[in-house]
This record gives sequence, structure tokens and C-alpha cells, in this order.
Amino acid sequence: MNDGFSSEIRVAEDDHRSGDGSYDATARIVDAGSTDDDGVVEAALRPRRLADFPGQPKVRDQLGLVLEAARRRGAPPDHVLLSGPPGLGKTTLAMIVAAELEQPIRVTSGPAIQHAGDLASVLSSLTEGEVLFFDEIHRMSRPAEEMLYLAMEDFRVDVIVGKGPGATAIPLELPPFTVVGATTRAGLLPAPLRDRFGFTGHLDFYEDADLETILARSAGLLEVESDPDALAEIARRSRGTPRVANRLLRRVRDWAQVHGTGRVGLDAAHRALALFDVDDIGLDRLDRAVLDALCRRFGGGPVGLSTLAVSVGEETDTVETVAEPYLVRQGYIVRSPRGRLATPAAWQHLDLSPPAGAQTPLPLSGETDAGRLG
Ligand SMILES: Nc1ncnc2c1ncn2[C@@H]1O[C@H](COP(=O)(O)OP(=O)(O)O)[C@@H](O)[C@H]1O
Ligand SMILES: [Mg+2]
Repeated sequence: MNDGFSSEIRVAEDDHRSGDGSYDATARIVDAGSTDDDGVVEAALRPRRLADFPGQPKVRDQLGLVLEAARRRGAPPDHVLLSGPPGLGKTTLAMIVAAELEQPIRVTSGPAIQHAGDLASVLSSLTEGEVLFFDEIHRMSRPAEEMLYLAMEDFRVDVIVGKGPGATAIPLELPPFTVVGATTRAGLLPAPLRDRFGFTGHLDFYEDADLETILARSAGLLEVESDPDALAEIARRSRGTPRVANRLLRRVRDWAQVHGTGRVGLDAAHRALALFDVDDIGLDRLDRAVLDALCRRFGGGPVGLSTLAVSVGEETDTVETVAEPYLVRQGYIVRSPRGRLATPAAWQHLDLSPPAGAQTPLPLSGETDAGRLG
């Protein structure tokens, strides 16, 4: 399947197997221009090889070494865990791991595995060397988790035959395989599961220059003409996140096609980003709602996460994994032992001055972005 992984968009049915949960969205791409469905376009924009993957130099180098060593040994590498906020390239890297190993990839996710039996059937159908991509692995059920420990460590599952006191466990040998786990919440993984991963890569927000590289490549794949200053502007306002960058690029393209010359230029970028409520520093509506609630409604905090989430009408998980990491990273919010606090930068961004009694943020070490995500 290896030769299917060039960076161009192509019909990729030979890259994948189907029909039994071994699903990969990239298999569905025929023509990225024919639909603007997010998932489909995203898959088309994924780099296929580590060498084509801009940004995350640390993870790229570390992963490159792990994969190269495994390739030379002719054996599957250690299991790989990828953690970090949404849209930074965890799924993309999982696909790349399979491509670099020239192995097929099976895709599943924590929420899809309700029972240990679901996992047993996935595991028992793996072929030697295959990559098992486990998205949102922190959301797997406990019994399945325990089965996964054993499978990852000893390449074995115990199949339970019968019920009640007469039930017996029949061990089933598995061929060696590689689990690539992805999680937005590494801290939620139980230690025994975390320990089964020989390599953990923490993805961090991207530098603007890397986002510009990504955007230039995406513009090429989407066949839109673009100006470098427009791409720089989109990059700067993409919350350090390739998924956001690619999405904004498509909205700017839409604007340019409807109101402009079709070319992604600086004016189109400014107007489209304004239309879609992306502010000057790239914060979107949810980000601003969180800052706004924190400052206006709770006087800058401290306020508990769930209270904050309720007040912006979102799930706690969404606020914590989608909005907060970037706000913390950029120094607008601090996580303290007693709740979330607004920093002076947050007040300033909202054009407000902090009230006299506002708390001075004192981050709890280990609860900062670096400790949890970086
Ligand atoms: N380093 C990168 N280079 C180019 N595109 C990237 C990169 N990282 C992510 N992307 C793009 O961003 C989108 C989301 O990436 P994905 O791997 O699905 O993120 P995650 O799984 O971490 O949520 C994809 O369309 C992918 O093409
Ligand atoms: Mg993903």
C-alpha cells in the first residue's frame, strides 16, 4: 500500500480495507473539490509522510527515529501514544505511522468500544505488523481497557467461554501489532495503560511559519491561488491549529470566489475572517464567550470549569479541551487550584479594566498548559 501515499489527492481504495471497521476516511476521497464536507476535505489535506509533515519538530524527530529503528529491525515498533488538543495532527500522524511502516491501518475509537467483546473481535482479526489506531483512547470502557493492557504487552487476549462459575478463559495468541493511541486528555489515561506505550508524543500548538507552510500546501491541493500575505494573516489567526487554518482557508476561498476575484488575497482574508467572527488574535466565538463570561460574569474568577461551561452553554469537555488549552497557552486564562482566573491580558483583550478586587493569577505548577498538554 505504500506507493499510495503520495501527497496528492487520489482515489485511495487500494490503501485501505473496508467492511469490518478497518475504516479510514482517506479511502473515501475521490475529489476534494466535489464536496466541502469537513472530514472529507480534511482527509485530502493530510500529509502522507513524515517528511511532508510541517511543525512539531520534536515529535517528528522522535517518531522518525522510533519508526526507522523498527523498520531496520524488521519488527513492529513500540506502541505510540499521541496527545494534544484537537486539530493538531494526531490522526494524521497515526496514518503516517502506518504509511512509514508500510502496513495497513485499522481505525477504532474509545467510544466505539463499549464491551470487551468489541475489542476482542477487533484484536483477533489483526494481521501481523498492522497498525491499530485508537482514537479518543481515554474514553474506552474499563473492561476493554484491561483486555487492551494484556494485548499490548503479551499479544494475547483471553476469550471467555461460557457463563457464571463454569466460564473459562481461553488464551488466544495475537500476531505482533502496533497500537497508535490518540487522546486530547493524556491526564485521564490510567497509569497502567499509559505505561504500555513505549513512545508518547505531545503535540503542541504550531508556529505561524509552520501554519503558513501547511496553508500553502493546502491552497495548492485545493487549487486556489493565494498571496503569501493572505496566508500569513490566516496562519496568524488560526489558534496555532492546522485544522482551523485549513478551515479558515476554505472560508476565505469561498469569500474570494463569491465576492472577489477567486484569489485568496489579504483583503479577502480580512473580510472573510471578520464575517466568520474570528477576531484579530484568532479567537473564535467560543473563546471569546469563555473570556467574556470569566471577566464580566465572574469578575475574573476564580470560577470552576463546569460553572464556566454552563454559563457559555457548552459541555465542560468542550470548554476544557477545545477552548481552554489555547487561551491558557496564550496567557489569557490561568488554571488555579480554586478555578479559572482571567489574566490582565484577558481584560485588555475585552477592552475592560480589571476591578480593584480582581485576583492576581497564580498558576498551580503542573496544572499549567505545559504540564498538561505540552
Ligand atoms: N502538520 C500538519 N501538516 C499539514 N496538515 C496538518 C498537520 N497537522 C494537521 N493537519 C491537518 O489538520 C487537520 C486535522 O488534523 P488531524 O490529524 O485530524 O488532527 P487531530 O487528530 O489531532 O484532531 C487535517 O486536515 C490535517 O490535514
Ligand atoms: Mg483526530
